[in-house]
Amino acid sequence: MKNLNNYKIENKKILFRADLNVPVVDGIITDISRIEAIKSSIKKLTSNNNKIFLMAHFGRPKGKIVDKYSLNFILTSLRDTLNLDKVFFLDNFDQNSVEKTLNEMQAGNLCLIENIRFLKEEENFDLNFAKKMSSLFDVYVNDAFSASHRDHTSIIGFPKFLPAVAGNHMISEIDSINSFLDNAKKPNMAIVGGSKISTKIQLLNNLIEQFSAVAIGGAMANTFLLANNYPVGKSLVEKNLIQEANNIQLKANELNCELILPIDTLCGKNIHDKNPVHRKINEVLPEEMMLDIGDASTQFISNKIINSKMVLWNGPVGAFEFKPYDKATNAIANVIKLNAKKLNINTLAGGGDTVSAIKNTHTEGGFNYISNAGGAFLEWLEGNESPGVKSLKENNLF
Ligand code: 3PG
Ligand code: MG
Repeated sequence: MKNLNNYKIENKKILFRADLNVPVVDGIITDISRIEAIKSSIKKLTSNNNKIFLMAHFGRPKGKIVDKYSLNFILTSLRDTLNLDKVFFLDNFDQNSVEKTLNEMQAGNLCLIENIRFLKEEENFDLNFAKKMSSLFDVYVNDAFSASHRDHTSIIGFPKFLPAVAGNHMISEIDSINSFLDNAKKPNMAIVGGSKISTKIQLLNNLIEQFSAVAIGGAMANTFLLANNYPVGKSLVEKNLIQEANNIQLKANELNCELILPIDTLCGKNIHDKNPVHRKINEVLPEEMMLDIGDASTQFISNKIINSKMVLWNGPVGAFEFKPYDKATNAIANVIKLNAKKLNINTLAGGGDTVSAIKNTHTEGGFNYISNAGGAFLEWLEGNESPGVKSLKENNLF
């Protein structure tokens, strides 16, 4: 795969795919790591006198102009984080506008294109559009690993017509995740949380083949508990997946993978309930919801962590956005922070919520690598080929 280190790009017009789908609360960007992620590639390209057009999506406007999804809001952060004097902005990604802006730009300047998902050609994969727009540029760079599981035009269309290279962050995501997966040392454990097992069936099936232990937390554990005939009260469950949960347990057993389910829980009447009660797993009342794993479960998982050589983490183990149901998730992050380096445990984390939990607890130091990808991280762990990465590998238009 061509990348910015083995392919020199100077004085060119670059179409650069970034993932600027940053988390925003009340109009404020709460985490700029996706902007920081492209810094190294952008620095290299600007210092080599290229003109860069940054192409990215924000939210899911589905081919229509939706004001609240305009990428305009990110310009200041982009300029400051990338240490640029100015960032151009292109409202319309059409031939005239691109040509006009290219004339205004100097070598080393950067222009952000409005949310690419405002165009119907983005998600309705459109080769004619990709071909037409590609004729305006010299090189395509993909530095958006976290969006490369989408078979959209900005990910797989342009590399059909332009010489395509991977950006530095793309390379570091792929290398770091692969090196973790390829260098398995047992005993290893995976911690998987989140609300639904429906989104993680393939992941779980894959993990139980590769890990000595898989701990399940979050609301997805509830379906497993129900499959084992525990009372789940009003907790979130996916009843249609009980059989699937049973199958995963049976398969884990056959593979000698220890599937760890909660043995105790913190229950509330709802996620806003500030007075939770602690329950053993067989004592949940009909009007209660399980909202976090309990102290005994946390302790059990913590002991497993410190006795593992590798730990993979995806998904909070409780409703961590709502205090006090962040307790176990925070405790796990802290156990990893306090022990990973000391005990030489190789640790990998990924997924939007997991990254927020790690940032909230300032436990980044405990992780060998934290991927800023969500869905793309999961799909990679599931062993699915990333359409964006495949397009880069297949590209030979140099
Ligand atoms: C993400 O936020 O995970 C990526 O930017 C992909 O966004 P999407 O799930 O809307 O395709
Ligand atoms: Mg997402």
